[in-house]
Amino acid sequence: MSAQRTSYHGQWSSRWIFIMAATGSAVGLGNIWKFPYMAGENGGGAFVLVYLACIATIGLPVMIGEILIGRRGRQSPINTMRALVADGSHWAGWRFVGWLGVLAGFLILSFYSVVAGWSLSYVGEAASGAFVGADSATITALFNDLKGDPWRLLFWHTLFMVLTIGVVARGVQSGLEQAVRYLMPALFLLLVVLTGYAMQSSGFDEGLAFLLRPDFGALSADGILAAMGQAFFTLSLGMGAIMVYGSYLPGDASIPRTAATIALMDTTVALLAGIAIFPLVFTHGLSPGSGPGLIFETLPLAFGAMPGGVFFGTLFFLLLVFAAWTSAISLIEPMVAYLVENRDWGRVPAAVASGGAAWVVGLGSVVSLNVASGFDIFFGLTWFGFADYLTSNIMLPLGGLLIAIFAGWVMPRSAVMEEVGLTGLLFRVWYGLIRYITPVGVGIIFLHATGLIGG
Ligand code: TRP
Repeated sequence: MSAQRTSYHGQWSSRWIFIMAATGSAVGLGNIWKFPYMAGENGGGAFVLVYLACIATIGLPVMIGEILIGRRGRQSPINTMRALVADGSHWAGWRFVGWLGVLAGFLILSFYSVVAGWSLSYVGEAASGAFVGADSATITALFNDLKGDPWRLLFWHTLFMVLTIGVVARGVQSGLEQAVRYLMPALFLLLVVLTGYAMQSSGFDEGLAFLLRPDFGALSADGILAAMGQAFFTLSLGMGAIMVYGSYLPGDASIPRTAATIALMDTTVALLAGIAIFPLVFTHGLSPGSGPGLIFETLPLAFGAMPGGVFFGTLFFLLLVFAAWTSAISLIEPMVAYLVENRDWGRVPAAVASGGAAWVVGLGSVVSLNVASGFDIFFGLTWFGFADYLTSNIMLPLGGLLIAIFAGWVMPRSAVMEEVGLTGLLFRVWYGLIRYITPVGVGIIFLHATGLIGG
């Protein structure tokens, strides 16, 4: 009965396009901006190891679950959950998963757009030659000036949100597909170039050792929570983005193969970013734990010193903007699809309303970097830090946990098997992971971080 649903919003033209779109969603600021600074703040190697373990044992199984739920329901996450609940007469409260995701998407986009705005502004800085021959004091001052100026931040935040709304308004095929087809491969190539540059720097060995040699003494319970949160964040899991993309996936595409490809590409990009950045940190005597400004304070040094740096620097920040753009569109797509389905809105007003709401919430992040930087929302976090912490470390893992329980325990095994297309040992491995390892893993890390167990 349910397997033959078709999506009201259209379909990806092929499995490959879905992979590109989902990779476009997954690869973004999370890989290039967030992963390096979080690894830096949490002591490096041990964080990276926990992060990789979370990708393999929690992230990948949940991604398969999230795509299969989406394709089974073929609607916005809210309506997909409603439809699957109705299919099996399950508890109606499961719809909450869809709403939790919509809320998380708004919150993430609100600060994501501000950071994407930094990248936009750095396209101009790079092109104007501002990095050429600059030392680290100059580069740090450049970043602090930007952060300290609410009007400039507002301008770039607004521009980025307009770009995001523009693509989402155009719909699945003409809007989303075109944005990812060429830009992802280009970004990847440029990262390889940067990594090559880093390999020649004097801090390469130290940088690589920092990133890859685990020092578990440097990893706190909150660091473990952050590594798990980052695994969800970087794969775009737990809020319905991958679910709604899955709802546009052709019925004959293999979900596990697709998910594995996406996770592999995403992880490769994050590791490459780390390998490009940490050698620079050590070569220039900077601190790996300097926080969210890390890539904006290190990469310009490399561009300022390398031949062709104006060109490479401009191109890099431009591609970073594109990577952020293809991620941002997936953050409001669940809400947009819902408004189109249930309120009969056109895609244009739905995109404007959703993006506009995230823009307003983002104003809080803009001012929390300057005029309101002393304003403590929650345990020493500013609004910017709080929105990030709440979504990455709590809402996404919670959403992922619920998705895992729904796919692993609530949906009938036959429906799950039919949709996921795995048999034999592979099916048992995945089913075991999503039924036991994911819920227990997320649960333990939650309890550990709140101090209820362990130290
Ligand atoms: N994964 C993206 C990144 O790494 C961000 C992102 C896009 C996201 N859609 C998401 C994060 C959905 C969580 C949920 O930059």
